[in-house]
Amino acid sequence: MNERASSPQAGDLWVRVGPEAEFAEGHQCAVDVEGISVLVVRYEGQFYALRNNCTHKDYPLLGGEVSLGRITCEKHGAKFELATGKPRTLPAVKPVRLYRTRVEDGDLWVGPL
Ligand code: FES
Repeated sequence: MNERASSPQAGDLWVRVGPEAEFAEGHQCAVDVEGISVLVVRYEGQFYALRNNCTHKDYPLLGGEVSLGRITCEKHGAKFELATGKPRTLPAVKPVRLYRTRVEDGDLWVGPL
């Protein structure tokens, strides 16, 4: 997993996460995109990708509880919207950077927004 390729559309760097079929509902993983750890989550059938760092104290978001479209930082409990990266509870006040996802030929890819 985690191979790199150039997007034919934009020339951006995309990273192959793996077969979509192996990415079950609720599954999370982290992949490296241009040296940045990016969290990938499947929630209610959709894929979301956001920087794997809480904007409060930089704690990894990987493994945090996901409910109501939000992921909870396990360190101090801040919640971020998967779709927008916006914080919805303190102590975080800044949004988490988002990344793009796409499925192509059965594989899930992540790339810079
Ligand atoms: S590091 Fe995430 S809430 Fe503090």
